[in-house]
Amino acid sequence: MNNSIYRHAARVALLLAIAAPLAGQTPRVLHLDARKAGAVVQPTMYGLFFEDINFAADGGLYAELVKNRSFDFPQRLMGWKTFGNVEVTTVNPPFERNPTHVVLSYPGHDHKYSGIENEGFTGMGLLAGASYRFTVHARATAADGPRKIRVELIDTRDDIIAREEITIPSTAWEKYTVILRPRATETRGRLRVFLASRGAVALDHVSLFPVDTYKGRENGLRADLATLLEATRPGVFRFPGGCIVEGTDLATRYNWKNSIGPVENRPVNENRWHYTFPYRLFPDYYQSLGLGFHEFFLLSEDIGAEPLPVLSCGLACQFQNSGEECHVPVDALDEYVQDALDLVEYANGDPSTPWGSRRAAAGHPAPFNLKYIAIGNEQWGKEYVDRLEVFVKAIRARYPAIRVIGSAGPYAEGEFFDHLWPEMRRLKVDLVDEHYYKGPEWFLANASRYDAYDRRGPAVFAGEYACHMPDRANSFLAALREAAFMTGLERNADVVHMATYAPLLAHVDAWQWRPDMIWFDNTRAAATPSYLVQQLFSLNKGTRVLPLTCDGKPLAGDDGLYASAVRDDVAGCYIVKIVNTSAREQPLRLVIDNARGKYALLPDATVTLLAAPPDAVNTLDRPDAVAPVTAPARFTGNALETILPPGSFAVYRARYK
Ligand code: AHR
Repeated sequence: MNNSIYRHAARVALLLAIAAPLAGQTPRVLHLDARKAGAVVQPTMYGLFFEDINFAADGGLYAELVKNRSFDFPQRLMGWKTFGNVEVTTVNPPFERNPTHVVLSYPGHDHKYSGIENEGFTGMGLLAGASYRFTVHARATAADGPRKIRVELIDTRDDIIAREEITIPSTAWEKYTVILRPRATETRGRLRVFLASRGAVALDHVSLFPVDTYKGRENGLRADLATLLEATRPGVFRFPGGCIVEGTDLATRYNWKNSIGPVENRPVNENRWHYTFPYRLFPDYYQSLGLGFHEFFLLSEDIGAEPLPVLSCGLACQFQNSGEECHVPVDALDEYVQDALDLVEYANGDPSTPWGSRRAAAGHPAPFNLKYIAIGNEQWGKEYVDRLEVFVKAIRARYPAIRVIGSAGPYAEGEFFDHLWPEMRRLKVDLVDEHYYKGPEWFLANASRYDAYDRRGPAVFAGEYACHMPDRANSFLAALREAAFMTGLERNADVVHMATYAPLLAHVDAWQWRPDMIWFDNTRAAATPSYLVQQLFSLNKGTRVLPLTCDGKPLAGDDGLYASAVRDDVAGCYIVKIVNTSAREQPLRLVIDNARGKYALLPDATVTLLAAPPDAVNTLDRPDAVAPVTAPARFTGNALETILPPGSFAVYRARYK
């Protein structure tokens, strides 16, 4: 811990311990009305938004360690080195949609070798003693005796840290598996496979996964990252993007039908973040689609979130495609509309239906209970409205219970936004997806954004937002601005039904976009202060909004203070969130009015405080530099006196049952 963070933590501990106003200071008085339950806080209120940007899927959450495992990147051997006698071929492929594979042949001398070596995604994270499942589809190219391959994990000094052999007796394509246990930890390891017999062997879909994935699934997710997602207890999970839904062109859009079924046969797609920013090019960024829609539905189920798929509306990214010829004409959208209808059937249909049977075949006969579908990401203009209308009509006709989400465009206000909102009302979509990547001042000014919003609907989905500091740091100050803004979302839970920070994940050595909610490398992860803010809101979302006032008004900026309150009728408690964005301590008196009868206060209350210097960040080396601290909070009667430290976010929980 550096000195300033240490001093800050000590000061916070002291303030928590005294929890009473400094002598001589007049506290600001906040009133909470225990019985005036307002809007229902939707279970979906705080959620997660996943997009495969910053190597969030392949090389990130998706636990596969081999890059280009199918040899079907356009540069067939990208990610691989070959040695000896290695041929790349598509003749007699095991997988129709990923036909390329390699043949390792005898190099002509017993002391020479033919083999391949994979570099992983900026290397492979390998942990000493952990188990790794190597699988390969292989066949002997002739019936003249079994082949052997040797499989090795290599560290950065070229030492072998794990080794196994596989015998391949058959000339038919078969799947082979072996478990490797590295004797040392290596954060940038690589995989080597070579022919250890005479003859020739064909190999495809060369894969290496930790055995210990999230929920222990093969084709699974990195346990540390998925656990961090689960720990936010998200109400909704939006996937798969973002701009990735649209693609740089229609050919590279996210086609969900390519992302289901056996992973070996999911065709590789170019990742649109590969070349979106010329100053951060990642020519090796492709989507294996191994983390596909089935896995997104499973993950949503595992973490208790409503799945929220976003589908292409037939417009390629409008930032990069201006001509009508780049998009699907409005009268030719049938395939895209059918994709949306089929997705509902895949998620919810009986196993006897064509798409429901595909879900059942993937091991999930029970429905995923899909309730929401978003059409289009950041789209705008008449071209979007015309296309969305076709989808809305078709979805309403076939699945009237599905809630459709439209877009307010890429910006939080302005021409596109002003055009789209009335159109969304006209089309009667259920929610409108608003995005705001803005500076710290915007977040403070917009803490009252929804106080005077039109209450006629549709509801708001704050689908992408993050406070962008000039240096794009994931600092505590940025997180505090987000917290201040979120008190406004919560106060207006009748208008705002969902909110998801963006983007979610970023590899420290392969990012395209900052800031992000969670940073990771090949073996470690760090939750940013923004993550902690999201988590505190989500774990304390309550069930009904309660009015919290200071001098009869909501607290939304006076003296740099922002606040909201809810009642949690399941846990039986009042929850008050107060953000102090000012640089000074603020004495407060919180009075809970009408807390009588079944709403009478019980003695045990707590306060969870997040406080740190403005520039504090969590890093992979110091992931807990900024961390919440929980302590008892003492009410006297129905009032609590306390001091909010400068630059802090406090969550008070007071029980009534
Ligand atoms: O979150 C990163 C990108 O920001 C998303 O893909 C896009 O929707 C927005 O422009």
